[in-house]
Amino acid sequence: MWQQIMDDVVQKTKQNIERYGDLFPHVSLNDQYLLNDNTDWTDGFWSGLLWLCYEYSGDESFKEAARRTVASFRKRLDNNIALDHHDIGFLYSLSSKAQWMIDGDEEAKQLTIEAADVLMGRWRPEIGIIQAWGPKGDPDNGGRIIIDCLMNLPLLYWAHKVTGEQKYYDVAVAHAEQSRRFLVRGDDSSYHTFYFDQETGDALRGGTHQGYKDGSTWTRGQAWGIYGFALSYHYTKNEQYLETSIRLAKYFLERLPEDLVVYWDFDAPVNAETKRDSSASAITACGILELLKVLPADHEDRATLEKGLEQTMKGLAEGYSTVGKPDAQGLLERGSYSVRGGHSPDDYMIWGDYYYMEALMRIEKGHKGYWYE
Ligand code: GLY
Repeated sequence: MWQQIMDDVVQKTKQNIERYGDLFPHVSLNDQYLLNDNTDWTDGFWSGLLWLCYEYSGDESFKEAARRTVASFRKRLDNNIALDHHDIGFLYSLSSKAQWMIDGDEEAKQLTIEAADVLMGRWRPEIGIIQAWGPKGDPDNGGRIIIDCLMNLPLLYWAHKVTGEQKYYDVAVAHAEQSRRFLVRGDDSSYHTFYFDQETGDALRGGTHQGYKDGSTWTRGQAWGIYGFALSYHYTKNEQYLETSIRLAKYFLERLPEDLVVYWDFDAPVNAETKRDSSASAITACGILELLKVLPADHEDRATLEKGLEQTMKGLAEGYSTVGKPDAQGLLERGSYSVRGGHSPDDYMIWGDYYYMEALMRIEKGHKGYWYE
């Protein structure tokens, strides 16, 4: 079954290269992907999907298209276009870093290191965090972290590995540690965001940006945490990150609804209108696959995670995949960007498509994604 889905992914992505030209798909409106120049936080996912399709199919046209995106990421960096946020890891891990991994391309490696330096510009030593959004000193966002940022840390860990410079590692570990202490709650749920005092570094309060309410658990945030802590474990071998990822994953899996694909927030009231977030399920599948790579065969949580992975992939394939809909642009239906903000609450998300294909490649081909070397 997975092969059939992957063939479908390749066929749709090939059609989409023709449709999109040099633009980047973001989220959909009325089943059509909204396209942008290389200016959004999501543009690396299109690049990463092209690289995965190339690796699966061997079709050179995917490689050509992926390389064009990397050239565009070079221009974006050189001209400092829309890089004033923390999502540099999403952008450059899946584009130039993937090219370096696949082609051994030294220019792509150099570009990725430069991107890591841009991300380092968001380090706030007085708090020990990478500031997610806004300029330094911003009254709302100056001392704010978000759980999504855990997926940007692999860029820094990787930069440490390839350059030998300690600063990248120290910043990534400090941020992971603040995230573990303040974003993860005692019952294994998570805050989407957390605020610190900008001058003293004191912890202030948890909050949300895209979740149901400040103290709720936004499912995609939980998913970023599962995969993000698993990747911090990969680079640091700190058992606390492994344990945190497992705890977050179990919380997620204990709350799967009947059709096995999560609602958008674990605390949102559930009725016939409640939106899903298929992208959160796809991210979680990848996070669990990473965990299963490292857990020993006799680990007490292995069976739970294996069953949760099987359920999640079954739920996505049977109820959300666009296999059998040849004209569909997206791969997974019913993602939600921001239900709270009324922004694409029931649509295709390019990151949902990317993580779905990454999960399939991990399962079928033993691929490991592009997050570490
Ligand atoms: N990182 C932004 C989001 O997940 O919507």
